[in-house]
Amino acid sequence: MPAPEIIRTPKEVSARADAWRRAGRRIAFVPTMGYLHRGHVTLLEEGRARGDVLVLSIFVNPTQFGPREDLARYPRDLEGDLAKAAGAGTDVVYLPEAGDMYPPGYQTYVEVKDLARGLCGERRPGHFRGVATIVAKLFCAVKPHVAIFGEKDYQQLQVVRRLARDLDLDVEIVGIPTVREPDGLAMSSRNAYLSSDDRARATCLHRALVKAREAAAGGERDVAALCALAVGIISAGQPTRIDYVEARDAETLQPVARLERPVVMALAVFFGATRLIDNVVIQAGG
Ligand code: PAJ
Repeated sequence: MPAPEIIRTPKEVSARADAWRRAGRRIAFVPTMGYLHRGHVTLLEEGRARGDVLVLSIFVNPTQFGPREDLARYPRDLEGDLAKAAGAGTDVVYLPEAGDMYPPGYQTYVEVKDLARGLCGERRPGHFRGVATIVAKLFCAVKPHVAIFGEKDYQQLQVVRRLARDLDLDVEIVGIPTVREPDGLAMSSRNAYLSSDDRARATCLHRALVKAREAAAGGERDVAALCALAVGIISAGQPTRIDYVEARDAETLQPVARLERPVVMALAVFFGATRLIDNVVIQAGG
């Protein structure tokens, strides 16, 4: 596969996007923060199948990290990323710099309200404001017809769908099921931080979600009982700290007491200093 072309400024990518659009080419876009794994590559493959031009962005977005979070030590591997991008047939890698995205005097932010409030939004204040802002900025520059996101970041996907709808952005948002390691652990750039003991312990997360889904399929309708079941399994896995385990309406992300419509069971759990997230959607019909 040929090496993708690298573009570094919003101005340049925007001009290229205009030219692609004028030529009638369909632009598929996969935004990431890099340190690509098979989950990201699956998104790229989906983009390749859906567009004529495939654009990948790599940008570790400072506005979505809290003051005590891992921005400075977020893993990076540009060379490896470019090889994986080439392997997946990426045409252009957009690599903006923080100074170009947020120049001095920058003061415009995008806020999605209710969807961004619970779950990770509650524990990471400002996180989804940063995500919505950077996604809106990337969409403005790349002008995609279709953009691909992972269900692994379920709340983020809902926030992006809402953002696209509310701002009348003419872009199709596609969600892709979570890509997992053979033992069920959701692939994540942050898995690289885990000690080998914590890596082994972290398999309890997916196990807990699967057990909760099985209990629902077996007739359990009490959402608190489903969460308690998952918490029990995760606690037995000896995490450093459970940030949250919650089940919410899969569409609105509002709290629910009974399983009457699809719910998303979502969790965030610390192993050492590493915060892992995962989720499953549980259907009301079992
Ligand atoms: P990042 O964590 O790099 O993820 C980029 C995309 O890959 C997201 O859509 C995410 O949901 C998806 N992804 C990550 N792990 C996955 C897995 N195991 N299976 C399927 N998809 C997976 O999410 C972000 O970056 C940022 O918040 C971003 C949207 C780029 C804005 O800065």
